[in-house]
Amino acid sequence: MPRLITIFDTTLRDGEQSPGASMTSDEKLMLARQLARLNVDVIEAGFAFSSQSDFEALQRIAEEVEGPTICSLARAKPGDIDRAWEAIKGAPKRRIHTFLSTSDIHLKHQFRLTRDEALKQSVEMVQRAKGYIDDVEFSPMDATRSDPQYLYDVLTAVVEAGATTLNIPDTVGYINPQEFGALIRGIRENVDGIAGVVISVHCHNDLGLAVANSLAAVAEGAGQVECTINGIGERAGNASLEEVVMGLRVRRQLYDADTAIVTEEIMKTSRLVSKTTGLPVQPNKAIVGANAFAHTSGIHQDGLLKDGTTYEIMRPQSVGLLQSQMVMGKLSGRHAFRNQLEVMGYRLSDDELYAAFQRFKRLAEQKKEVFEEDIEAIISEEVQNMPCSYTLKHLRVESGTDMTPTATIEMEINGTLQKHTDTGDGPVDAVYRTIAAMVKTTSTLTSYAVKAITGGMDAQGEVTVKIESEGRTVTGNGASTDIIIASARAYLNAINKLAYWKGKTLHDLESTV
Ligand code: KIV
Ligand code: ZN
Repeated sequence: MPRLITIFDTTLRDGEQSPGASMTSDEKLMLARQLARLNVDVIEAGFAFSSQSDFEALQRIAEEVEGPTICSLARAKPGDIDRAWEAIKGAPKRRIHTFLSTSDIHLKHQFRLTRDEALKQSVEMVQRAKGYIDDVEFSPMDATRSDPQYLYDVLTAVVEAGATTLNIPDTVGYINPQEFGALIRGIRENVDGIAGVVISVHCHNDLGLAVANSLAAVAEGAGQVECTINGIGERAGNASLEEVVMGLRVRRQLYDADTAIVTEEIMKTSRLVSKTTGLPVQPNKAIVGANAFAHTSGIHQDGLLKDGTTYEIMRPQSVGLLQSQMVMGKLSGRHAFRNQLEVMGYRLSDDELYAAFQRFKRLAEQKKEVFEEDIEAIISEEVQNMPCSYTLKHLRVESGTDMTPTATIEMEINGTLQKHTDTGDGPVDAVYRTIAAMVKTTSTLTSYAVKAITGGMDAQGEVTVKIESEGRTVTGNGASTDIIIASARAYLNAINKLAYWKGKTLHDLESTV
């Protein structure tokens, strides 16, 4: 059984320290609930002493969010410790996390304390927290720029005072993985009582090494990693939760360690954090970036269609995505093109597929990415002589301020003339309801857009609709100076396409490629 690493999420505390990321207490509560669904072990939900709103958010989260331990940050000061306790005391599982620097740079220039004074203060504040609660975490801030012997002395003293977790912060993102691994080993070998406590790490990303440093520490025996969703946090951010978690999951054997995170909730959590904080996720961000499971190279697309493991080290579903994405462009081959058509619900004959692929390649030479709409247009042009099952013959619509909009339509349906009248919320709705009843469609109208294609009072209007049926979406277009007629034409165009594609067989495709 691999060791289970405790995931301490600090999105709501260190993450909130990202410029512009401050959150209301409602937002923090909503995110805390999602973090609980993600199954993080500890939520550091704020710094109770820092503001009334942080205090309230902590209190609400402590009382309302079930599952994880709820933690408040507190400086090594009596007022901070007391306030942290007040905020979290309603939680079934709660922790106080107190900190004071150990580096001479901080002690001399910022805190104006001697080493002895800082050690004494750290011990006293751990003892004060212990008076309230059993679960006490201590962080020697700027640990990675501290004199190791002094660091060991402070850690030994706070363990004796009752600290249950020792968190080693790389506060300024200075250390590298080899050094950090050695530091964790040094702590294991030189701190008395270390066997009875959890070693935690808290890495910042100033040199882009936060995740690598965290994993190096796990390899040396760290039992807790502090991290944030999307890696947000002070300056360049913290170690990204999703990278640490998937790093351990994918290389479980290497680390002989894993986490209890429900990884399928990762994407949802990432999007929620991005939306709430207004901090976008870069497209090439590992695990949660828009391109993390997107494949552009034809060679990769071909391999992937044969077997997912050829170019993916984890399944997109494992982080909550539906599937990988094939980016259609000049590097895509016939195999990927055919697959894309299938995804879009199109089944073409040998000749149609051959011709469509040639057109696709020509377009891809001119365009960076070929979108579904482009492929739809190619397909439509390839089959512009498609037989129409439904032809509009006459259309009359009555509408006004004091009447129910009513449409009467005459249509040729598979060679027979038929007529029907129906009503709707507006003239277009009346027309669409009448057509739908006549063709007996079960499709859903998913989009409707009108644009003027010429100017002036007699402007030609173009209507574009999308309808969806059994997982297949088709687009229909219609133009006229009368917008109601343009709407009817667009809808019927889409209905005719749907009827056409439904008549095609998959075998047509398979024999081609
Ligand atoms: O980066 C840091 O040192 C911190 C401490 C408060 C743990 O965030
Ligand atoms: Zn930090």
